[in-house]
Amino acid sequence: ASSYQPYRTAYHFQPPQNWINDPNGPMYYKGVYHLFYQYNPKGAIWGNIVWAHSISKDLVNWTPLDHAIQPSQRSDFYGCWSGSATMLPGGRPVILYTGIIDAKNSQVQNLVMPKNLSDPYLREWVKAPKNPLMAPNSANKINATSFRDPTTAWLGKDGWWRVLVGSKRDSRGMAILFKSKDFVNWVQAKHPLHSAKGTGMWECPDFFPVLSESPSGLDTSVNGPDVRHVLKVSLDDKKHDYYLIGTYNAAKDNFIPDSGFESYVLRYDYGKYYASKTFFDEGKNRRILLGWMNESSSEADDIKKGWAGIHAIPRAIWLHKSGKQLVQWPVEEIEKLRTKPVNWPTKVLKGGELLQVTGVTAAQVDVEISFEVNELRRAETLDKWVDPQDLCSRKGAAAKGGMGPFGLLIFASKGLQEYTAVFFRIFRLQSKHLVLLCSDQSRSSLKKDNDLTSYGAFVDVDPLNEKLSLRTLIDHSVVESFGGEGKAVITSRVYPTLAINDKAQLYAFNNGTADVKITRLSAWSMKKAQIN
Ligand code: FRU
Repeated sequence: ASSYQPYRTAYHFQPPQNWINDPNGPMYYKGVYHLFYQYNPKGAIWGNIVWAHSISKDLVNWTPLDHAIQPSQRSDFYGCWSGSATMLPGGRPVILYTGIIDAKNSQVQNLVMPKNLSDPYLREWVKAPKNPLMAPNSANKINATSFRDPTTAWLGKDGWWRVLVGSKRDSRGMAILFKSKDFVNWVQAKHPLHSAKGTGMWECPDFFPVLSESPSGLDTSVNGPDVRHVLKVSLDDKKHDYYLIGTYNAAKDNFIPDSGFESYVLRYDYGKYYASKTFFDEGKNRRILLGWMNESSSEADDIKKGWAGIHAIPRAIWLHKSGKQLVQWPVEEIEKLRTKPVNWPTKVLKGGELLQVTGVTAAQVDVEISFEVNELRRAETLDKWVDPQDLCSRKGAAAKGGMGPFGLLIFASKGLQEYTAVFFRIFRLQSKHLVLLCSDQSRSSLKKDNDLTSYGAFVDVDPLNEKLSLRTLIDHSVVESFGGEGKAVITSRVYPTLAINDKAQLYAFNNGTADVKITRLSAWSMKKAQIN
């Protein structure tokens, strides 16, 4: 690998080298967080997949251990693909994962158990003698190359365990349901838990309960009157993680969403983010979301730099009090890395103005900014609803507006030849106002063969009565932005050529005609985490 490494991260999870993808089997066991992940021990592109393993006391600093699951038997000889951990009663963890059994990538589900439960690091895993436990056959007609990524299992009051496996039939995506009394003998339920036509393969399903009136997390088996359920699937055709909120009927074993995938609305992250998975953190009573961010660079560049893929900062995830969407926020532990705070007094950011945020290491910083607007007359008008990502691509940071664009210029080079812009822009649609959050990569690098797609999302805030807040975690090649206190999240991967390390600068900007008020700007240089 090249010795030129300006894009390696300081506090986002990555191994020293090679390819990584999905987070697998996250769990909290005897005071230790475990993260497994899809890993190629042989290179910087996908292949030869094993479960690599790291542990942490705080979800910030990580220590690598030996690979936990590797091909070794007929039921996984061609690869150990994604899966999840489940805590059995008495606190005994087990893992279900997808095994690849031939060169055509035919898929089955396998079980592994810890060799030594008194080892909090769970270093060694033993494969169940009965593997595979779930397999396609002529009776169940499961499509052998579309049958993968078992979820964390949940236990019903009837004493049966239930687990989902992602699949599709023709182009109907589905979450196939299996049941078991002993976790070893699994029977397929008559109906999938849920399915939707035209959505294609459902990868990495995740199914979990959330409380309707509290940000506290719940163990995956909990159900009851104050509980709503979330079904997340990673749509292979779209390469995004979508979720539905709804009701789980345990007696019928079905999930009725409040509204479905027809319009592909709700996503965890409107940027680069895939194959995510949650787990219940019993230590802090919260549900935590982990996800994979792929590179935006070419395969040739990935091979040159010797690595590809990182994980997002772990996020707490809960149901917004409206009941209509989830909210995400970086785990509080990440704030331990904050140093040398910079705080601005309240100030007006005039139309056309650009203010540098000095006193921070701008390539490695956590920044929070809030704006207040007091009239919306100059908001641009939309005559019909427009896809927010299209809107952000058409109207980047350089496109002057009325109310906005205002926000941050990140990884900005001294002469502004390069910058990534994260900003708000307010529109009027009939009698309503829409707040758009954009992450504009179009000028992020002078190197033009990277994926420079702009991303966007509408943030459900009332711009006259609520602050427009943005928190962005900046880390060398990552721009991870949380708008509206976690209502809309957008992550980008960028590769500046000039604005690297101490050449990177950070600005607040307003390219609209109307003034806005900055009611808060707090920025912290981030210390380097100890990662692998
Ligand atoms: C999602 C995925 C999973 C599969 C794994 C293979 O990124 O394709 O469906 O189990 O990656 O590495």
